[in-house]
Amino acid sequence: MTPNPSPAPHFAIAIDGPAASGKSTLARLLAMRLGLIMVNSGAMYRAITWKVLQENIDPQDAGAVAGLLDRIAIQCGCDGMMSTIAIDGIDPGDELRGEAINGNVSVIAAIPAVREKLIDLQRGYLAHASIVMEGRDIGSVVFPDTPYKIYVDADEEVRAARRGDEGQIDSIAQRDAADSKRTAAPLVVAAGAVILDTSHHTIESGVAAALEILKQQGLAIIAG
Ligand code: DC
Repeated sequence: MTPNPSPAPHFAIAIDGPAASGKSTLARLLAMRLGLIMVNSGAMYRAITWKVLQENIDPQDAGAVAGLLDRIAIQCGCDGMMSTIAIDGIDPGDELRGEAINGNVSVIAAIPAVREKLIDLQRGYLAHASIVMEGRDIGSVVFPDTPYKIYVDADEEVRAARRGDEGQIDSIAQRDAADSKRTAAPLVVAAGAVILDTSHHTIESGVAAALEILKQQGLAIIAG
């Protein structure tokens, strides 16, 4: 009789949703509460976009962007409980949230070669730790088999106001339309995901609601 393969030692909690839905805050607080690593997959798409713009490559030129991917080293890691991203040893830091990146990241994220490369790196985190990963396709494409999936949403006015409060210039409606309509891994509510609308939640009540969903999905949550 062949022995059962040992179960995967690590698991992923998938948090997906549109821009400014509150998923980053939720993912960070869940990771803190559950003692997991929080992985911001959007930062990876933003870092590639940063490098494309640095190199003066036209974001619409998918061939040139794919060529760039072959020349650069993408370093994914973590600092404490938060994921980090560097390209050729440089962490772009706050530049990742700038207007130019907000305006071009959806075009870069729609390029299949970019997604292929980043999805491998995203899955790589599980070799080292259990994670809460936030993004657009985490429950549908990156970790479709995880039982722990939440789709975070909020009214469009609430989301726009949140971006404004952060002092960011970001046409979220345009970005959401591009992220939802693209062919490669569009933003969808993944099979098995529970929708959490944060429009009328405080941060604390949103975290409590998310913990309740994860409990219902079978996650053993230590009270505290
Ligand atoms: O979460 P964010 O706003 O930082 O993400 C930036 C962009 O990256 C978003 O407009 C779409 C893309 N993205 C994606 O396509 N897939 C992911 N898993 C995460 C982000």
